[in-house]
Parts: sequence; C-alpha cells; structure tokens
Amino acid sequence: AVLALWAVIGYLFGSLSGGMLMARAMNLGNLREIGSGNIGATNVLRTGNKKAAALTLLFDAAKGAIVVLLARAFAGEDAAQIGALAAFVGHCLPVWLNFKGGKGVATYIGILLALAWPMGLVACLIWLVMAAVTRYSSLAALVAAGWTPIVMAFTGYGHSFFLAAFLCLLIYFRHWDNIKRLKANTETKIGAKG
Ligand code: G3P
Repeated sequence: AVLALWAVIGYLFGSLSGGMLMARAMNLGNLREIGSGNIGATNVLRTGNKKAAALTLLFDAAKGAIVVLLARAFAGEDAAQIGALAAFVGHCLPVWLNFKGGKGVATYIGILLALAWPMGLVACLIWLVMAAVTRYSSLAALVAAGWTPIVMAFTGYGHSFFLAAFLCLLIYFRHWDNIKRLKANTETKIGAKG
C-alpha cells in the first residue's frame, strides 16, 4: 500500500508540466503550435523566452528529484524507485493534458540526480557538450541518457539499473519523431525557431 501511495504521489507530481505552467504564467502562447509542439524546455526555448525555458527545465527536473527524495526519506529505496517511475510516466502521460505529455529528459535528469547524483551530473555534462557541439537538443539528450544504465550496471548503482534502463527506453520511444528528423537532417537546432 505504501508503494502504491508513492506511485500516486509520483504520478501527480510528475504530471505537473513546467512548460505548460510557464506558458500560462508568461503568456508564451500555445506550445502545441510552436516548433515541435512539445511541452518541454527545448520547445519553450523556441518561443524565444530563455528564462521560461530555464524555469521549465528546472521545474521538470525538480519534480522528479523531489519525488525520489521524499519517497526515499519516508518509505525507503523501493518507494523512491516506484516514485521515480511514476513521476516520469506522469510527465509523459499527464491526465490533465489528455495524456499528451513531454519526452522525459529533464525529469529523468532530476530523477538521476536524486537517485545516483554522480550519474546525473555526468549526464548533464554530456548533454551540455553534445548540445554545444551538435546544437541538437534531442541528440544531446539521447546520448546523455543512453549511456547511463550501461555505466550503472557496472558501478555501485546496480540497484537502479533496471529503472534507468526502462526510463531510457521510454525516452528513446518518446523521441521517435526526433530520431526520424535527425536521420533526415531536418531536426531543428537549438537557437533556431521552429
Ligand atoms: O527533451 C526534448 C528534446 O530532447 C527534444 O525536444 O522539442 O526538439 O522535440 P523537441
């Protein structure tokens, strides 16, 4: 019952979209009609509002981290993992938005920082380097996230391996259109308006 409770709390936390909140609070217009139509920080940046994009990233990462930290503090490691999974699912499939949510990158980073912070930190660094070099947010995310379960399997974070591997798989699924665009050389670069 305790795990189910953290699943519900995690889902509800996760389903609050930073992008949608910023769009409403800062009058950014309809994110669905901008760029990729996604509700994540990358697409918020395409409105031209850098502050809103930064706050979206922070919000979507923080909700993942907060769920993990709260669940762990009150109910232990299993609850933290269930909460993390639920928060991620909440972000991607929020009941408030007809289950049309985000792609999970910021929330995954937040979860990682709370679950295994060195992994989260390195993932952030890889994202930054890849984004600086390629200017593709999606590619940077796919590379930054993709290696994490592999490293976790062989380090002291084995207990989080299955969760990380599953979330990465979901991130790849959610980026299916981005992957097609990357292959076709039509993906929008960071800084360009979509
Ligand atoms: O995290 C989302 C990012 O990787 C891609 O976003 O808006 O370009 O589809 P977007």
